[in-house]
Amino acid sequence: MAIRHFLSLRDLSPAELEQVINLAIEMKAAKLEDRQEPVFAGKVLGMIFEKSSTRTRVSFEAGMAQLGGHALFLSPNDTQLGRGEPIEDSARVISRMVDMVMIRTHGQEIAERFAAYSRVPVINALTDKYHPCQLLADIQTFTEHRGSIKGKTVAWIGDGNNMCNSWINAAIQFDFNLQIACPAGYEPCADLLAEASNLVSLSHNPVEAATGAHLVTTDVFASMGQEQEQQERLQKFAGFQVNHELMSHAADRALFMHCLPAHREEEVSAALLEDTEISVVWDEAENRLHAQKALMLFLMQASS
Ligand code: CP
Ligand code: NVA
Repeated sequence: MAIRHFLSLRDLSPAELEQVINLAIEMKAAKLEDRQEPVFAGKVLGMIFEKSSTRTRVSFEAGMAQLGGHALFLSPNDTQLGRGEPIEDSARVISRMVDMVMIRTHGQEIAERFAAYSRVPVINALTDKYHPCQLLADIQTFTEHRGSIKGKTVAWIGDGNNMCNSWINAAIQFDFNLQIACPAGYEPCADLLAEASNLVSLSHNPVEAATGAHLVTTDVFASMGQEQEQQERLQKFAGFQVNHELMSHAADRALFMHCLPAHREEEVSAALLEDTEISVVWDEAENRLHAQKALMLFLMQASS
């Protein structure tokens, strides 16, 4: 059987993604009811982090431990990855010793090259282009609060970054409408937009994008690696803050999501972030744990 990777949401079929979301909801209940099975006993996850992380590292590492497995934290600072060992060589070596790998890196092509040389499933834990694990948690969170996302309308406000590109993939795979508003010059991937033109609209007007949305979501103005652009972006993104005023244009009972970490009073007001009637960011963060356990189980079973 071929090894299954998860480098973007497009690597699983819509039916498989639905299976993972349902499994995540089930595994969450199993954890709360203290009836988890050690399905990863004897299994090791290699976790390569070339960028910082709180949620991703804690959720993968805790998830493996809770299901009887082990996770290895590998950073370029203390492995040969940081001293120039080729990614293809690292992939061939690491994947002979572990059962699955997750990689957080810069270019999407680095994750793809790693996967091409890996003997075991590889999970994209964020690249400059995509953050598909976050979308699993986000879709799980929407489903738990409001039911199926199919046919609903989601608004993306802000940078056309890795999260925005992933929301476009999610619109294609989960069949919902996506209304994007970003400042001129900060649009998401043009190829993806063209491919999803029946489901996705793009404007430079946050009110237009938020209007009628069942979910409004955003992310930091400057992603990891763009810290030197922070001041310029603060100016260019003026008017793109998600707050109660912007949410007033959304549908009744619309939710707010943010992958976190958040910069209060920049892309989101502190009042909205803390408004638990609307903001589901803490459930979203928790669901990283459940969604990734489900994903790892799916990939392991589908690849064996
Ligand atoms: N949302 C997310 O991926 O957070 P971390 O960068 O803390 O992992
Ligand atoms: N767009 C952000 C997401 C962090 C989880 C970044 O890439 O830094």
